[in-house]
Amino acid sequence: MKILVIESSPHKNGSSNLLAENFIRGAQEAGHHIDIFDAAHADIHPCIACEYCGMSGPCCQNDDMAILREKILQTDMIVFVTPLYYFGFSSQLKMVIDRFYSFNGKLSAKGLKTALIVAAWDSNNWTMKDIKSHYQTLCQYLNFKDQGMVLGIGCGTVSMTKISSFPKQAYNLGKSL
Ligand SMILES: Cc1cc2nc3c(=O)[nH]c(=O)nc-3n(C[C@H](O)[C@H](O)[C@H](O)COP(=O)(O)O)c2cc1C
Repeated sequence: MKILVIESSPHKNGSSNLLAENFIRGAQEAGHHIDIFDAAHADIHPCIACEYCGMSGPCCQNDDMAILREKILQTDMIVFVTPLYYFGFSSQLKMVIDRFYSFNGKLSAKGLKTALIVAAWDSNNWTMKDIKSHYQTLCQYLNFKDQGMVLGIGCGTVSMTKISSFPKQAYNLGKSL
């Protein structure tokens, strides 16, 4: 299947993208086609709630979200990749999610497969509580079919991430699809 990996860290070679790399390797070995979209280095602006789109029409903003929207509408699966920022998605990823507004109906009608990959510094048992819950609620609302989550606690730097169990977990998730 076609898998669209949406990265969202300002660190091109950081922890969350390292986990994504491992996921991608596994998914490619399993025969899937991968497309990567780096939202943190794209020109994407926040939704301005102008209601021009009426939740199903062109967005009035002319930026890279037009490219991403087409990719999303043509893919079978999205992988959301993010560093944990104040217990939620990075604002770079949240901007993308808010821009789903202009194709909300089309998106939920697709019943897309999704996965979540997160890297966080902390390793408390509550570190991922809220991002996990937010993601699960998005899945429920947008009719996403969750294929798995890699919630990388103690992944504050690339070296911390490399010695953790999470790269392997990300690889296994990709391979299992
Ligand atoms: C603005 C900001 C907010 C952060 N908030 C959290 C947080 O709530 N919990 C946590 O464990 N780490 C937090 N961190 C640390 C990052 O999640 C962590 O360093 C992660 O590995 C960065 O991933 P990256 O290299 O892919 O950007 C924060 C970092 C920044 C810059």
